Amino acid sequence: MSSSTHLLFSLLLFSAAATLSPILATDHIVGANRGWNPGMNYTLWANNQTFYVGDLISFRYQKNQYNVFEVNQTGYDNCTTEFAVGNWSSGKDFIPLNKAKRYYFICGNGQCFSGMKVSVLVHPLSPPPSAAVGDVEHSPTSSAAPVGVQRRGFGALVVSFVVICFGFGWM
Ligand SMILES: *[C@@H]1O[C@H](CO)[C@@H](O)[C@H](O)[C@H]1NC(C)=O
Ligand SMILES: *[C@@H]1O[C@H](CO)[C@@H](O)[C@H](O)[C@H]1NC(C)=O
Ligand SMILES: *[C@@H]1O[C@H](CO)[C@@H](O)[C@H](O)[C@H]1NC(C)=O
Ligand SMILES: *[C@@H]1O[C@H](CO)[C@@H](O)[C@H](O)[C@H]1NC(C)=O
Ligand SMILES: *[C@@H]1O[C@H](CO)[C@@H](O)[C@H](O)[C@H]1NC(C)=O
Repeated sequence: MSSSTHLLFSLLLFSAAATLSPILATDHIVGANRGWNPGMNYTLWANNQTFYVGDLISFRYQKNQYNVFEVNQTGYDNCTTEFAVGNWSSGKDFIPLNKAKRYYFICGNGQCFSGMKVSVLVHPLSPPPSAAVGDVEHSPTSSAAPVGVQRRGFGALVVSFVVICFGFGWM
């Protein structure tokens, strides 16, 4: 294989990876441009997003003023960090959502009582069997799932391409 063909494949691959990397993992910035601050209703923010396994949730705030604790539902409901399973305080914390479950985050300095608490439900990448059956004729209620599957499907395509290139010794 000529070196120019090799170069072409490399360029194709790099541009594909650069274009698709933001699609593979969504970074959900808590509170969007208003960040992690008191006086917000983060339930409204969370209800406006769909979270998938592998996505990130990120908290942006004044370092040393606020922080982030991952707790369970009891900690969330009662605003207590007593049973916290993790804590962050950099002011720009990126937390991977690696499991399909409900996550709970609160601020640990008392501001939880002023609204600094957020709970997010993380969905698995593959739709449940019941949703997969309706794949051909999408029901309105399952419209969110296929979108997430689609963006991952695209990522899987790139991975396959990389694997094939390696397999044929193109890289
Ligand atoms: C935040 O909004 C949700 C959804 O509308 C509502 O159920 C909840 O009571 C609100 N929380 C506060 C503290 O206002
Ligand atoms: C919901 O998301 C849309 C699109 O990102 C945005 O325009 C809108 O302001 C959001 N609403 C709330 C309540 O965050
Ligand atoms: C949260 O964790 C504490 C300590 O492990 C436990 O006692 C409590 O039952 C948990 N709450 C929930 C809702 O699982
Ligand atoms: C949470 O708060 C409620 C009401 O204040 C209280 O009854 C309950 O015991 C608390 N739960 C824990 C695990 O502290
Ligand atoms: C924060 O997490 C670290 C481990 O990452 C732990 O050692 C520390 O005790 C935690 N701090 C609080 C206040 O829970």
